[in-house]
Amino acid sequence: MSVECFVTGGTGFIGQHLVAHLSAKGHTVRVLMRRPERLTELREQVVKLGGSAARVFAVAGDLERDNLGLSPADREQLRQARVVFHLGAHFAWGLSLEQSRAVNVEGAKRVALLAVEQNSRLVMIGGYMLKNHEHLQRIGIDPRSAQQTHWPAVYRRVGGYEASKLEAHFATLELMSAKGGEITVVHPATVCGHSRTGHILDGQPLVELIRNLIQGKLTAVPGTAKHWLPLVTVDYLVELMVVSAFDPAMVGQELLALDEQTPNLRELLVQVAQPLGLKPPRHHISLRVLKLLLSIPPVARFMNTKPEALDFIQTTRFDMAAVEQFAKSHGIAKPDIRQSLQHTATFVNSSCIAKG
Ligand SMILES: NC(=O)c1ccc[n+]([C@@H]2O[C@H](COP(=O)([O-])OP(=O)(O)OC[C@H]3O[C@@H](n4cnc5c(N)ncnc54)[C@H](OP(=O)(O)O)[C@@H]3O)[C@@H](O)[C@H]2O)c1
Repeated sequence: MSVECFVTGGTGFIGQHLVAHLSAKGHTVRVLMRRPERLTELREQVVKLGGSAARVFAVAGDLERDNLGLSPADREQLRQARVVFHLGAHFAWGLSLEQSRAVNVEGAKRVALLAVEQNSRLVMIGGYMLKNHEHLQRIGIDPRSAQQTHWPAVYRRVGGYEASKLEAHFATLELMSAKGGEITVVHPATVCGHSRTGHILDGQPLVELIRNLIQGKLTAVPGTAKHWLPLVTVDYLVELMVVSAFDPAMVGQELLALDEQTPNLRELLVQVAQPLGLKPPRHHISLRVLKLLLSIPPVARFMNTKPEALDFIQTTRFDMAAVEQFAKSHGIAKPDIRQSLQHTATFVNSSCIAKG
């Protein structure tokens, strides 16, 4: 059955794969675009990723603008959407509270209001740190009473991007609960390239890590042997998002999209180094020492790393049995994360490094 979907962030990395997947399944996909004149480019990319260009349309707008800056005609058209996928976000390190809140928190609330007004299911993309309750408590958030959070302190502690994603999550849940809207939240780990092609976009955190290894800037493994950077491949993530969107049992649910088989960081770097014929680092450097070093601007520039990025390297493990059961019940197979990492490294080396 073909349904109408509205996607924010459809031009981004995960968004492109989502739009390709939805359109390949025969759905009509309307994408919020700050630059709708780039629709042809997006359609070409969607076709490369296996989607159907003819089912993809642009909706001019901006998360930062009132009512998303939609024209009355587009607003009317969007009423047909059965599902609203909200992926749009200002993703960068070093954002101020104002910059990140304007897009990531206020934008999310605008998208949620639109979904609620027209009875669409909202599928919101959070982040895996929202499922790490120890981490939330450490930075001053109690998920059971998130409205009590002193947000400026959280922004100071974890930086604008991460804090605004956390704030957006709780603000959107509150809004949907107050208005009686349908919401499903998917929390991805750091996203790895496509499991078969390795496709990933420049600017993604994993690309930065691979680039640093290739350029010889990663001479020690951050953290200890227990530290890992949980990953999920973009194709597995998108499949989980789409089945969650159409599964009535997923209304009001949150789903963690993370591959528990992701090796520890040292082994992850071994997997990345292998297809490129590089020597991976063997010794560890403590995260505390690394953060101190990164507070020295020339060192930070040389290492091409921001302290905020290190917060995603953790020791917490997650019980993924229920999610894997959910995936299986929908016929979704989890790709091999080590192979996916190797494909991603090869893709980054040929497509991102050569151009960069
Ligand atoms: N990638 C990861 O590892 C990861 C992990 C966990 C969660 N997430 C979450 O997943 C979502 C998608 O991530 P991604 O990696 O695909 O992001 P991305 O590649 O950086 O793409 C961001 C998207 O947001 C759009 N956007 C930014 N500001 C906007 C605005 N003011 N109005 C409208 N659209 C705007 C961009 O559009 P333009 O083309 O106009 O710039 C782009 O389509 C985000 O919510 C992110 O926080 C990502």
